[in-house]
Amino acid sequence: MTTPVQAKPATVVILDFGSQVSQLIARRAREANVYSELLPFDVSWDEIAKREPSAIVLSGGPESTFGDDALDCDSRVYGSGLPLLGICYGMQLLVKRFGGGLVRLGHSEFGPAQLVVDRADAPLLLGVPTESRVWMSHGDSVESIPPGFTGLAHTASSPVAVMGDEVRKIYATLFHPEVVHTEAGTAILENFLHTIAGIAPAWRMDSWVDDAIEKVRAQVGDANVLCALSGGVDSAVAATLVARAIGKQLTCIYVDTGLMRKNESLGVIAAFRDVLHLSVIHIDAERRFLERLAGIGDPEEKRIRIGHEFIAIFEEEAKKIPDVRFLVQGTLYPDVIESKTPGSKAGHKIKSHHNVGGLPERMALGLVEPLRALFKDEVREAGRVLGLPNAIVERQPFPGPGLAVRIIGDITRERLEVVREADWIVTSEIDAAIAQGRLSPRPWQYFAVLTPVKSVGVMGDGRTYGNLVGVRAITSEDGMTADWARLPHDLLERISARIVNEIPGVNRVAYDITSKPPATVEWE
Ligand code: XMP
Repeated sequence: MTTPVQAKPATVVILDFGSQVSQLIARRAREANVYSELLPFDVSWDEIAKREPSAIVLSGGPESTFGDDALDCDSRVYGSGLPLLGICYGMQLLVKRFGGGLVRLGHSEFGPAQLVVDRADAPLLLGVPTESRVWMSHGDSVESIPPGFTGLAHTASSPVAVMGDEVRKIYATLFHPEVVHTEAGTAILENFLHTIAGIAPAWRMDSWVDDAIEKVRAQVGDANVLCALSGGVDSAVAATLVARAIGKQLTCIYVDTGLMRKNESLGVIAAFRDVLHLSVIHIDAERRFLERLAGIGDPEEKRIRIGHEFIAIFEEEAKKIPDVRFLVQGTLYPDVIESKTPGSKAGHKIKSHHNVGGLPERMALGLVEPLRALFKDEVREAGRVLGLPNAIVERQPFPGPGLAVRIIGDITRERLEVVREADWIVTSEIDAAIAQGRLSPRPWQYFAVLTPVKSVGVMGDGRTYGNLVGVRAITSEDGMTADWARLPHDLLERISARIVNEIPGVNRVAYDITSKPPATVEWE
């Protein structure tokens, strides 16, 4: 099968100065059907030029532009002649570079402000209401506008909240247009991308998929390639995409740790073999993992041991396949960016559930990471384009160490059975409620936790002394922050009744009503 080579999509490069919301700029660009790449702020001009961008956005950041060691990008960005948009910290850099003046506020302006448009005919502000709410987060402010620029809008405390130079196509906002709290944010970003930078809203996920397939073919040639399937959406989409590119040169390995949810491993294998026709080696390693985990109660030690055992098994299997030169990893954009914080020169860290850490170096394998440019929801979209079944595309996040971190304390086969059954009851009840329209939207994650707490109960005529099971369901955008899901009481009641009635040794259920922060999603 040959795939026609697609014309390269017009790209906007976003330079990340470390704002919590930089990734949202990329996301908004793609929502506007514009292909974007988020790069660390200190990437060289050559790296930027390779992308042949049509425009560059300078993101916000937590630092101040005052001082000689303030974070800055390659100076060739400013002289590139490309349309530029500076946001917050990015605006301050533009002011500094182009000869304006900044002033330290002495306090940070953080939160909502009312934006008043002064120049409604400015291309950046087309369609923006005369007054609208914007989201501010800055410590420095603009004192004087650089030569060639005009002030386009203000707020009560910032006389220059938007500035622009129509001739050079350089614009800046002191607030964050990428956050939902900025009412006209989408209009502002779309004006910049479509009207000012002239990028047509032509980017679609299927053209991205075709292009990614071509890139994998070019990278891999006729070598054999390995992929560790976790059952999660990232490795599934990465493997399917690579299989489309190189077919039988790809071998997937599924290491069944015995720490998976009920029926999960069978479902994963069936989906990959029967539906996607991928070549999958299924390693049943439950016994090995349980031996390695015997008597281990510390959560970090559990994670370390599981990671090491996984690598050992994967390596043993990998050695059996001839002429392997590459390893597929489902690394996503947030993984890449999280590991490269401004000011640090740290190398790329890979999320633990994709982490076959050290293996590529030890086996001298190159990495194939076709999803490096995507966000989670875009990966799901790519999965749909590739024809992956819904059960995989919609799968809720599940930690790499699996049920091991959902048993507080020692892991035994019996305790695994308890948490697995409790998890099955939680997930099947919530899934049924969603299917029957009793619950909407689907929580981001929902599961059971087995605690070592024992409490007194009464069943029939006798006293019991049984285990406490925790139930957690959260809403979240990205797993970084979360809130507890307001599940209907009758749903909670059913879950609780089924757990204590159907699982021997459990006599009490508690629902976790803590957000993240201060708690985490997982209990371990
Ligand atoms: P926490 O508990 O850190 O979880 O708030 C945030 C998200 O990450 C998942 N998680 C893990 N994923 N290996 C993983 O692959 C881990 O060790 C791990 N610990 C937590 C968690 O399920 C949630 O989606």
